[in-house]
Amino acid sequence: MKKIQGSFYNKSIISVDQFELSDIELVFKTAAAYKKGIETGTVYRDLEGKLLTALFYEPSSRTFGSHIAAMQRLGGKIIPIQGVTFSSVVKGETLEDTIRVFASYSDAIALRHPEEGASRRAAEISSVPIINAGDGVGEHPTQALLDLFTIRERLGRMDNLTIAMVGDLKYGRTVHSLSKVLSLFKNITIYFVCPDSSPMPKDIVKIIADRGVKTEQTSSIQDVISQIDVLYMTRVQKERMDEKLYESIKDLYILDGAMANRMKKDSIIMHPLPRIHEITKDVDDNPRAAYFTDQIRNGMFVRMALLKLILAPN
Ligand code: NCD
Repeated sequence: MKKIQGSFYNKSIISVDQFELSDIELVFKTAAAYKKGIETGTVYRDLEGKLLTALFYEPSSRTFGSHIAAMQRLGGKIIPIQGVTFSSVVKGETLEDTIRVFASYSDAIALRHPEEGASRRAAEISSVPIINAGDGVGEHPTQALLDLFTIRERLGRMDNLTIAMVGDLKYGRTVHSLSKVLSLFKNITIYFVCPDSSPMPKDIVKIIADRGVKTEQTSSIQDVISQIDVLYMTRVQKERMDEKLYESIKDLYILDGAMANRMKKDSIIMHPLPRIHEITKDVDDNPRAAYFTDQIRNGMFVRMALLKLILAPN
């Protein structure tokens, strides 16, 4: 896995482990410029003539839609493939063969796949960059960048943060990537609020603790709610566990309006979406809620930045 080291050009994005601070700064500078431009009516042509395949083997609306929106906002085009059950995969085609085909049509492939490590496998044989749009219980690096961009925008900093990640932390890939990316910053505390049956994987806890992040596992949101700057809620990943485990944890962590109001005034509530019932609707209008507003829209700007940096030589 190639480190980015200042140049995204022609590189795959597989894991947040590829980023250094300066890489993140470059993406955010580019994303912020696009955000300003789009909001003042600029029409971009930076990726005119470029073609992205969005190859999605798992359901998605936001990640799929925002890659398409980002590409089109830059004047590029897209081959949208969603619900791969309708394609040759049902005939038995391997991931590798499918990647070879779409690599020969397009300039990059955004890949979502149910198996951890699928993007890495794809990148090993692909002649064009692969963007990991979620690989099973593995990682979701572009989501981590848009989450971090939102934190920076809303709180004005990426150092000195206390964050609670809540829910099914074992199977949720967004929190895996976000924890690791946060470990690049100073004075970070992460509370993992989860059931013992679905904890943050030990290898990730070790990596980030070695980098100086203070971590603590707790089973109650109430214990930490008034101390945190960011509350990152997640969905229980029903499709990745058996029915029994799902039933036992699905109602454990539900944020409602009264709890949200116990948070610090300048704190924020995030969620990668889709939200099932872990945040009640009365939280949506709380000024701390960032999930339907900033987080979604920032996804498009951050993906515009990544696509531009990967596909355009400078
Ligand atoms: C997340 C994912 O697919 O990992 N969704 C997303 O990309 N915004 C979270 C989830 O499905 O729970």
